[in-house]
Amino acid sequence: MGNGQRKMHKNLGTEANSASNHNHANKDNDQSKELKENSTKAEGPPKHPNLLTEEALGGKHPLEIFKAWMMEAFQTGEPDPFFMNLATATSCGKPSVRLVALGDSDERGLYFATVDGTQKVKEIKENPRAAVCFYWSKLQRTIRIEGIVEECENNEEPFKRWPKPFQVGMRLAGAQGKPVEDWESAEKKLQEEMAKFGDQEVPQPEHVTTYVIIPTSVQFMQLKQTSLSDRFIFTKKDPADEGSWSFDRVYP
Ligand SMILES: Cc1cc2nc3c(=O)[nH]c(=O)nc-3n(C[C@H](O)[C@H](O)[C@H](O)COP(=O)(O)O)c2cc1C
Repeated sequence: MGNGQRKMHKNLGTEANSASNHNHANKDNDQSKELKENSTKAEGPPKHPNLLTEEALGGKHPLEIFKAWMMEAFQTGEPDPFFMNLATATSCGKPSVRLVALGDSDERGLYFATVDGTQKVKEIKENPRAAVCFYWSKLQRTIRIEGIVEECENNEEPFKRWPKPFQVGMRLAGAQGKPVEDWESAEKKLQEEMAKFGDQEVPQPEHVTTYVIIPTSVQFMQLKQTSLSDRFIFTKKDPADEGSWSFDRVYP
């Protein structure tokens, strides 16, 4: 999954804020140059450019910053940077959380795929809100995103990026969360189906659906061991207006 995931953010952030991108293009280049220099010096913990300056953040769409941080997480060799804890809740507010893979992202939001009828899907249907949290230990960074969840009909990227046994398993069962009656025959069936597909692409089954989380709030935190950790919260004031993002620096 790793190599595939490296292509994941190809679309992100290019349109949402194209006007201000021009102003930031040079800064971005400086930042990636600085990153490269730091990674070749590599003595002790990696040093990273301070992306959390008001100058760097002002006018940027938070998903552009998300993209930059995700790229850095890959460059730094974070293990599995694209796994995120996904929290959903029932209509009366009973929460639940699980790990899922971020399958794609663009200026609209974060995409993941899952199986119909599961707890998270039931909860999303009755309460279309979710929150995700990433933690990258090498970089000492966390990103929290809250938003509205919508179904996506034409995005199979998340399914394509799952490892093959996972894809085949999801096709077979459609039974995520249901009891396994007979472990051995379930495992045997999986191996048979894997062999059937061989090197062929596994098509997304009808019972797997892609969802997008459209952010209404995005928080970035850079933990610091010896000084005040940096934390910024971006909030979308009007859910219908991409221009209504505001941001605040807050105590960590
Ligand atoms: C590393 C990892 C990645 C996972 N990725 C996904 C995923 O992308 N989609 C998914 O539906 N389940 C994924 N799972 C399984 C979920 O954590 C969870 O068991 C499943 O979605 C059922 O959750 P639910 O019963 O709360 O709906 C993953 C599990 C792990 C450990």
